[in-house]
Amino acid sequence: MFKIAVLVSGGGTNLQSVIDNVKSGKLDCTIEAVIGDRKCYGVTRAVKAGVQGYIFDRKILKKDLCRAIDKVVSERGVDLIVLAGFLSIIDEEFVNKWKKKIINIHPSLLPKYGGPGMYGIKVHEAVIANKEKESGCTVHYVDTGVDSGEIIKQVKVPVFKDDTAEILQKRVLVQEHRLLPESIEKIIKESKGVC
Ligand code: GAR
Repeated sequence: MFKIAVLVSGGGTNLQSVIDNVKSGKLDCTIEAVIGDRKCYGVTRAVKAGVQGYIFDRKILKKDLCRAIDKVVSERGVDLIVLAGFLSIIDEEFVNKWKKKIINIHPSLLPKYGGPGMYGIKVHEAVIANKEKESGCTVHYVDTGVDSGEIIKQVKVPVFKDDTAEILQKRVLVQEHRLLPESIEKIIKESKGVC
């Protein structure tokens, strides 16, 4: 069975969409671990769903955060690491060890509105400030840059004249909750040689 781990820093609605799709049988994998880099509701969601949850405090572990994550995902024999609203930067050594085995969801049409400092509501604020007509979300492989890895799937979302960043964030999130499970499914199928 294909094994995944999910890394979170916040509310974990994307994690919940993965949990729901595993429970319904749409996603043919097990969630071996959910790891938070701080106390957050995402880890609570994991525990509520009967998934092993860990909190590795980034402020305490600092440079050792990735070592701690590596230990868990290695011991659990994880095939794919999913960053779902994970805000710590993954270091180069970790990325190189897990090449093509880490994916991230980002709330914009990358390469637009990605890179250092672009996360969460800040992305939507920038999209609104620039009067964009469309935005969206992207799932991509993680490389040693920030939001720069190969794109796996992307969905467009319209931006309307009266949108606030919060309204746009909600519209994009609805699509994220479809895009992330679909992207994981694609990778699982590829691993089985079914495309
Ligand atoms: C999501 O919108 C995700 O795309 C974004 O954080 C939010 C997490 O929401 N990630 C980034 O901005 C990464 N650069 P969630 O905790 O409810 O899943």
